[in-house]
Amino acid sequence: MIIIIMGPQGSGKGTQADKLADKFDMIHVSTGDILRDEVQRHGKYEDIVKECMNKGELVPDKINDAIVKKVVERYKKGLILDGYPRSMHQAQEILNMTKIDYIVSLNIDDETAVERISKRLICTSNHKVFIEGKITKEDIKECEDSGGKIIKREDDTPENVKSRLKVYHEETAPIIDYFKKQKQNVIEVDATKPINEVYEDILKLMN
Ligand code: AP5
Repeated sequence: MIIIIMGPQGSGKGTQADKLADKFDMIHVSTGDILRDEVQRHGKYEDIVKECMNKGELVPDKINDAIVKKVVERYKKGLILDGYPRSMHQAQEILNMTKIDYIVSLNIDDETAVERISKRLICTSNHKVFIEGKITKEDIKECEDSGGKIIKREDDTPENVKSRLKVYHEETAPIIDYFKKQKQNVIEVDATKPINEVYEDILKLMN
């Protein structure tokens, strides 16, 4: 089964993808996490990825296409893809690569997106996501055990989030209509509700 999770910044793509991956024993792959790892380990694309991320722009298609092609080949039995596709080119690529079972589209307004991102923290090792002020001692222990530090993402400034949202509305949101026209199984979910309610709504709509 292949599930794609789409939505604006802070809509909870990573949060819901983790929960679905646990439930269905699938692999959650985030292109954002892979690109951040590329920077952290000073990989071949470090400079271009860092530059795009710091400006809130999309990283060139060819880098992401290559990443996702490998991931789809490896995990096609059970994959939740978070953060790809984001451009019309990527949408066409993924349809060429594989059959998609569900496309979950998480809907929130920009104001909620900026507010959520301003409170987000992440673990540098296991990529877990937290809300500032709501981190438990167990969360900290788990991240210390995995060797990760809990930090604020460099691109999580209000200015950067606004740039990412602009790119989302211009380049990524039109893909949802494209997928509907292509008769793909698109599930639209109100992502302004609490995390568990959004999750239950996704499960209900997936039937
Ligand atoms: P990426 O890492 O994917 O970032 P993003 O798209 O900006 O999405 P976010 O991670 O900000 O949001 P999310 O929806 O996952 O929210 P989360 O679950 O964390 O990409 C980063 C960059 O990489 C891009 O800008 C681009 O440069 C590049 N890139 C990546 N993929 C690319 C591609 N395919 N092509 C080109 N470039 C690419 O939740 C956010 C916060 O809200 C958390 O604190 C969470 O706890 C909280 N929260 C979640 N749900 C709820 C809820 N229902 N109620 C209350 N709080 C909630």
